[in-house]
Amino acid sequence: MTTQQPSESQIAVHWREEEYYQPPSRFIGQANASDPVIIERFSEAHFPECFKEYADLLDWDTYWHTTLDTANPPFWKWFVGGRLNACYNCVDRHLAIDRNKAALIWVPEPESEQTQAITYQELYQRVNEFAALLRDFCGLNVGDRVTFHLPMVPELPVSMLSCARVGVIHSEVFGGFSGVACGDRIADSGSRVLVTMDAYHRNGELVDHKAKADEAVEAASKLGVQVDKVLVWRRYPGRSSSPTPMVAGRDFFVDELLAAFHRQRVEPVSMPAEAPLFLMYTSGTTARPKGCQHSTGGYLAYVTGTAKYYQDIHPEDTYWCMADIGWITGHSYIVYGPLSLGTTSVIYEGVPTYPDAGRPWRIAEQLGVTIFHTAPTAIRMLRKLGPDEPHKYGYRFKHMTTVGEPIEPDVWRWYFHTVGKGEAVIVDTWWQTENGGFLASTLPAVHPMKPGSCGPGVLGIYPVIYDEDRNVIEAGSGTAGNICIRNPWPGIFQTIWGQPERFVELYYSKYNTDPESKDWRDWPYLAGDGATLGADGYFRILGRIDDVINVAGHRLGTKELESAAITVAQVAEAAAVPVMDELRGRAVEIYIALKPGITSSKEIEEKVVESIENQIGKIARPKNVWIVADMPKTRSGKIMRRVIASISNFADVGDITTLANPEIVDDIRHQVQRAK
Ligand code: WT7
Repeated sequence: MTTQQPSESQIAVHWREEEYYQPPSRFIGQANASDPVIIERFSEAHFPECFKEYADLLDWDTYWHTTLDTANPPFWKWFVGGRLNACYNCVDRHLAIDRNKAALIWVPEPESEQTQAITYQELYQRVNEFAALLRDFCGLNVGDRVTFHLPMVPELPVSMLSCARVGVIHSEVFGGFSGVACGDRIADSGSRVLVTMDAYHRNGELVDHKAKADEAVEAASKLGVQVDKVLVWRRYPGRSSSPTPMVAGRDFFVDELLAAFHRQRVEPVSMPAEAPLFLMYTSGTTARPKGCQHSTGGYLAYVTGTAKYYQDIHPEDTYWCMADIGWITGHSYIVYGPLSLGTTSVIYEGVPTYPDAGRPWRIAEQLGVTIFHTAPTAIRMLRKLGPDEPHKYGYRFKHMTTVGEPIEPDVWRWYFHTVGKGEAVIVDTWWQTENGGFLASTLPAVHPMKPGSCGPGVLGIYPVIYDEDRNVIEAGSGTAGNICIRNPWPGIFQTIWGQPERFVELYYSKYNTDPESKDWRDWPYLAGDGATLGADGYFRILGRIDDVINVAGHRLGTKELESAAITVAQVAEAAAVPVMDELRGRAVEIYIALKPGITSSKEIEEKVVESIENQIGKIARPKNVWIVADMPKTRSGKIMRRVIASISNFADVGDITTLANPEIVDDIRHQVQRAK
């Protein structure tokens, strides 16, 4: 990190809260972990063997011989020697007792369409048939990569589990990302097969999604990777809902292909614990997204264990995580964790606020949801649009989660009193795409809740806050620093796909004192967030310290945004900065300097927005584009994003005397602040 960069934590709102809520007794009585002795079992004295407790929640084909192998830091290996299949653990093993229980309940957006319950037996049928298709029609083998660009339909978990069954590595790209963004990820992962859907419903529209597949294949091909098959699930099997034509010999409707695989069975392939299960791309400090590679054994053990103790999932629960499966939250806590525990996991198409802000509560009532999981951005939106809606519906939650960004205490209280009706415990879970599962949270039946703080490290996770010189920032000091995790854990990603040096550099080099050391204690994991630690041992996350902007709980790299803006012919320079946003937590503003001789126009602003939407997706749409006369720069020519971010947020710009062009700061301030 350089001081030139804007950081989310610099503009974070600071709230003072020493307010605690006790877990409701109705919750404690039934919780999976209500005895604090479990914390002792996972204390540092029992590391790493404590994680055996999570691994033992799985069915292994071959039991492992070494819990943690640290021979090649920081490429940790978990449950070495063990073999298992993730699909078997999420599907087959539940058939004996729960074959006719719903594994997934899917709620389509049009309220006129039937909700679909897919039993474990049906899921078993569907993953077997699609796995056979992947293997025999696509010729995919163990270790091959397949990219998905799928919306929130049951075909997405079916596709994921089918890959897992045959040892193929899936890489789901969030459905809302553009075709070009999908193409980049196809190329990076070297996928020859793209799985997509013709169309899906969102916000009252039937979106043509197939068009993006064509763009994705073209973008990948420009980067030298040829997709030879595009498998298109149809939103309405038997008829196409997309006007985009199929390309002969390349594009295939899955429902038509599946006819040939009817009733086929595919043995789950016994995979080494360390075999990659999937890639999940996320944004970082450069324009190139990072493919976080997650393992089979460690990952599945970690999400199963944390889903059991922190989500408090019991097989008889109806669990609804409202996230999109296209993000890590959905992979870990809609698909793999809940299904491994044999519960019923709800997925829904659309958005929480369409046709109205009562939708989530209607679904919760209709399905008898007991556990509810969402993000602050959705909570803020639902509160704004329907503050009294939850009262109208007769659901009863026992447990609720918030994840993805800091939650303001005021928003937390509405979640607790109005959504949870004062009866549901809340966990504020802090973690990241790279982590597989939760890193910090209260243990729901054991720790009191504190609005605005996520809580202590979860079982077996020992966080620490360092200052820039690796001094430990003490609890209760009120000082912010870089939150790190001192130890490895089974859910941590294995590497950045194809970029092992970058993996070491970005996450482990900052605080490693001895690159030769084989001792995990010398390899703290740098999370990239600023945080403080209260005297009570609860962490409060302040936001990103790197060049990442967290918009509505989604990570956008400033470099990705800027590269997209610069592709507009008239643009000379671009700088992306975070601004506070009432609903989304943070939003993006783009500052533009034009090439000599070009005059500012609305048209250029629109082109910048369009380019960002095309290259990344609508979620990256900037809140404002400011065309300025020049960027504030250091004498060495670096754009001072920190100064721009302060202007956008009406904050103090700090010391600007070292700038090459300090006079520009006032000009920009007048221009921007007057317009806001
Ligand atoms: C970043 C990770 C895996 C969770 C979904 C987002 C921020 C995440 C919290 C929380 C405050 C949070 C951090 C983190 N974040 N959870 N409970 N409180 N901030 O995953 O896209 O990889 O983003 O989200 O800044 O670094 P992601």
